[in-house]
Amino acid sequence: MSGERIVSGSEERGFSPHESRLELEECLDHVFCGDACQVLARLPEQSVQCLVTSPPYFGHRVYTQHENPQEIGRETAVTDYIERLIRCLSQARQVLRDDGTLWLNLGDTYRKGVLQGVPWRVALRLCGLGWVLRSDIIWQKPNAMPASVTTRPTPDHEYLFLFSKGGEYYYDADAIREPHVTFSENSKMRGGRRHFGLRDGTPEQGKNAGNMNLHHARWDQAFHPKGRNKRTVWPVPLGKCREAHFAVFPEKLIEPCILAGCPRKGVVLDPFLGSGTTGMVAKRLGRHFVGIELEPEYVELARRRIGSVQPELPW
Ligand SMILES: C[S@@+](CC[C@H](N)C(=O)[O-])C[C@H]1O[C@@H](n2cnc3c(N)ncnc32)[C@H](O)[C@@H]1O
Repeated sequence: MSGERIVSGSEERGFSPHESRLELEECLDHVFCGDACQVLARLPEQSVQCLVTSPPYFGHRVYTQHENPQEIGRETAVTDYIERLIRCLSQARQVLRDDGTLWLNLGDTYRKGVLQGVPWRVALRLCGLGWVLRSDIIWQKPNAMPASVTTRPTPDHEYLFLFSKGGEYYYDADAIREPHVTFSENSKMRGGRRHFGLRDGTPEQGKNAGNMNLHHARWDQAFHPKGRNKRTVWPVPLGKCREAHFAVFPEKLIEPCILAGCPRKGVVLDPFLGSGTTGMVAKRLGRHFVGIELEPEYVELARRRIGSVQPELPW
């Protein structure tokens, strides 16, 4: 895999939606510095397999050192924020292959004690634009910050929406199966070894003997040799990155997105790269990445972090 190319702030001014699109080879494993919307307009169409991203949340924090009108999240009205984000994601849609997926992490915001419902408002707008919502995964944070509220529960979750671009899409369920929890390996073998992997069978012994709920397909599913299908609540502690002044993706949160959403040597894109976690995990798992980040300081940080990672398997 080649080293990351950093496009400096001055070069970045060259990004114009009117210029022709770059070749894929010019983008692979590169971190672009600039506004996501503008850079996305220059990336080759239908070139990436999946998008894994966490855009700035509405009204949460300021990322850029100097006030930058291109920064998303600083809008006064939530509706303006949603429209800007939707514009960027529509640009990203053109870069995504037709069988590609979008894994979108969004947190919510309170205004004067009122929950804004931002993640679902964005999700429903995307559905109206042709995206197909496949899953609303709950990222549950066991180490979420305490909040000094007494009139409602303390939030300890965010959303991770899985969208496909269309009807048929790449999704490797086997790559992210979880351990079975209902039955131990022992009871599984005792209860149904003759039927394991076969159709029209029920367990012949044990507490599930003759249970039609475990009939053929259900039985196969319940005791799939690689584990049960991944569930929709993902408990993952918040990540730490000493160098970043904001919450970075925990690597464990996005590993399943990349493993299920992109084959080896495929391309993962994060248009709001921040400290570079998506690029790091993609590279470690043997996928190509493309990153975009507005703030030059974070571009440098992402380059350093990604550069320190080695792929787990040889290419
Ligand atoms: C929530 S952070 C992403 C953190 C990232 N997932 C990580 O693991 O470090 C959002 C990032 O989007 C960047 N950003 C804000 N507006 C942008 C824009 N218009 N184009 C590209 N990046 C932008 C911010 O500077 C910030 O680094």
